[in-house]
Amino acid sequence: MGFRSTAIVGTIALVHLFTMSAATAADDEYAGDKSCLECHEAEYNSYQRSQHAVTADPRTPASEHGCESCHGPSKKHADNDGELNVGGLVGFGERAAASAETKSSMCINCHSSSAKLAMWPGSTHMGNGVTCSNCHNPHTDNPKSLKYETAEEVCSGCHANVGFDFQRVSHHPVPEGQIGCNDCHNPHGTSNDKLLVGTTTNETCYTCHADKRGPFLWDHSPVTEACTTCHTPHGSSHDQLLAEKAPLLCQRCHSNSRHPGTLYALNADTTANDSVYVSLNNRAIYRGCVNCHSAIHGSNHPSGKTLAR
Ligand code: HEC
Ligand code: HEC
Ligand code: HEC
Ligand code: HEC
Ligand code: HEC
Ligand code: HEC
Ligand code: HEC
Ligand code: HEC
Ligand code: HEC
Ligand code: HEC
Repeated sequence: MGFRSTAIVGTIALVHLFTMSAATAADDEYAGDKSCLECHEAEYNSYQRSQHAVTADPRTPASEHGCESCHGPSKKHADNDGELNVGGLVGFGERAAASAETKSSMCINCHSSSAKLAMWPGSTHMGNGVTCSNCHNPHTDNPKSLKYETAEEVCSGCHANVGFDFQRVSHHPVPEGQIGCNDCHNPHGTSNDKLLVGTTTNETCYTCHADKRGPFLWDHSPVTEACTTCHTPHGSSHDQLLAEKAPLLCQRCHSNSRHPGTLYALNADTTANDSVYVSLNNRAIYRGCVNCHSAIHGSNHPSGKTLAR
């Protein structure tokens, strides 16, 4: 009994000693924030507005090594008139020698336990050399330390094509600020395709369009497979985010041999009244199919087999 507790105390003392000495050894490589202020007043001031500068929180850089929690121990840099890439200095700019991985590690040291960041290792962004500071800059007023005011501006910097998609006539209300890229994607990585927040495209869509989730009495199989068979997720030049306009959209799968023949025959039968003929025909060309097959996403009506109710 007595032996055991002594051993435990001994172990604790030993661990403590090692941590202490490691910290002491590194300590003289740090210069401290006041020395940075001398030459970097602008950065010194801009960082004060970030949550990172909150001294009341014991987990922040301000409670540890301040500037040097993110930029690494920089005494050599400070003592040598701001020489770059010396000592432990980690710069995030273009002249910095640090790799994307080293830059990210400066942040992950503190943020590895965040659920949102759990899938960062191996994510598409990490794998393509993107690093935290491509999207974040703690030297800003932004509440999430984003480089630009909104996430969408940050993303569009590299994904300009996606930014343009949102300018098409029909688009998810991202430019209007109703939803954001992050509602469908987690830029820090997910275990799903395309950094989607849902396990599949459909699961992502159902988070907001729950009424489209089956099973229905009469399912329409492309709907259960992938919403993106018929819709573009970002924006489209066709109504309702459609990938193609009806009837072409439908005719990709429903060969126009049988039914559309019936359809046009039906119109021809109404030639007794010219105006009816014209309006029916217009509907057939534009969105005729869904005029009748209105339960296009599935039907719960006993006689809804042809998705017409
Ligand atoms: C004696 C002046 C001086 C001091 C003190 C100083 N710096 Fe610098 N620092 C510079 C100069 C000069 C540059 C180069 C700036 C330039 O050319 O734009 C620089 C650049 C940097 C960079 C960019 C590195 C890169 O690779 O692009 C970082 C980060 C940095 N300093 C952080 C710090 C930190 C943190 C401290 C305090 C521990 C500090 N500096 C203290 C003068 C100084
Ligand atoms: C929470 C992490 C963090 C803290 C704390 C921090 N910085 Fe930075 N700093 C960054 C990041 C990230 C960038 C790059 C921003 C960008 O590329 O838009 C940066 C940019 C800079 C730059 C411009 C050169 C470069 O590397 O891009 C200087 C100089 C700098 N910081 C100095 C300081 C000083 C001085 C302090 C303390 C007063 C400080 N930083 C505190 C993360 C931090
Ligand atoms: C010494 C630990 C530490 C380091 C290093 C650190 N952070 Fe933080 N960060 C925190 C703490 C603590 C908070 C406060 C919010 C929380 O997580 O509860 C925070 C908040 C944030 C936030 C959200 C709020 C805000 O003010 O921006 C972002 C984004 C962020 N950090 C990104 C980064 C990035 C990017 C880096 C690297 C350039 C970094 N952090 C480095 C500890 C740290
Ligand atoms: C491709 C862009 C991008 C990259 C790369 C990125 N982030 Fe973020 N991060 C964002 C956006 C956008 C948000 C805002 C999320 C929101 O508002 O929901 C965010 C939010 C955060 C938050 C706050 C999370 C919360 O719970 O509110 C932290 C912390 C954070 N990022 C840390 C990091 C760290 C650390 C890295 C590097 C390992 C990193 N980020 C890389 C775009 C990025
Ligand atoms: C610094 C440039 C950069 C920024 C900023 C950026 N990305 Fe990326 N993103 C990339 C690169 C590089 C790839 C991988 C190559 C590609 O697919 O184009 C990528 C891929 C993606 C993918 C496809 C993933 C896959 O598995 O195919 C999505 C989704 C994505 N980014 C979303 C975002 C979102 C959301 C934001 C903003 C929060 C953002 N990106 C900001 C560079 C960036
Ligand atoms: C309503 C959900 C939703 C929103 C909002 C959204 N995306 Fe997507 N995004 C998707 C889906 C679903 C895919 C996958 C498409 C596929 O597999 O065909 C995708 C694919 C991507 C891709 C990879 C393929 C490509 O088109 O290049 C990138 C990059 C991307 N999104 C970036 C963004 C950015 C940046 C934003 C915000 C400006 C954004 N997304 C907003 C759902 C969304
Ligand atoms: C974060 C919530 C959200 C997610 C996730 C989401 N949507 Fe939406 N969707 C909306 C909002 C908001 C509207 C606009 C509704 C309105 O204006 O009445 C909308 C509208 C639509 C429209 C009608 C567009 C129009 O022009 O009327 C279609 C089609 C659509 N979404 C399909 C999808 C698909 C497919 C997915 C999955 C890739 C998806 N949505 C994921 C929120 C979401
Ligand atoms: C077989 C093609 C097809 C598939 C697959 C499909 N849709 Fe649609 N969707 C349409 C058509 C066509 C319209 C336009 C209906 C109209 O004009 O009345 C539409 C309209 C919508 C609308 C706006 C009108 C409404 O009914 O709320 C939303 C939202 C929507 N779809 C979401 C989804 C979601 C979510 C999925 C996946 C679960 C999906 N769609 C799969 C063809 C499809
Ligand atoms: C990606 C292929 C695909 C697209 C696009 C598509 N469908 Fe379908 N549709 C199917 C499949 C597969 C079935 C089930 C076929 C079966 O059971 O014979 C089906 C079934 C149907 C049925 C019920 C037929 C029956 O006898 O049960 C109708 C009606 C229908 N689709 C209408 C449409 C309309 C209208 C559109 C355009 C808005 C459309 N479909 C787009 C593949 C598609
Ligand atoms: C005027 C109303 C109307 C229009 C417009 C219409 N349908 Fe139909 N459709 C029906 C009715 C009613 C049935 C059931 C016929 C039956 O039971 O014999 C049907 C049956 C179907 C079926 C299943 C049986 C079959 O013939 O293969 C498919 C698939 C279908 N329609 C697709 C389409 C497509 C694609 C379009 C657009 C090009 C379209 N429909 C336009 C009323 C319409």
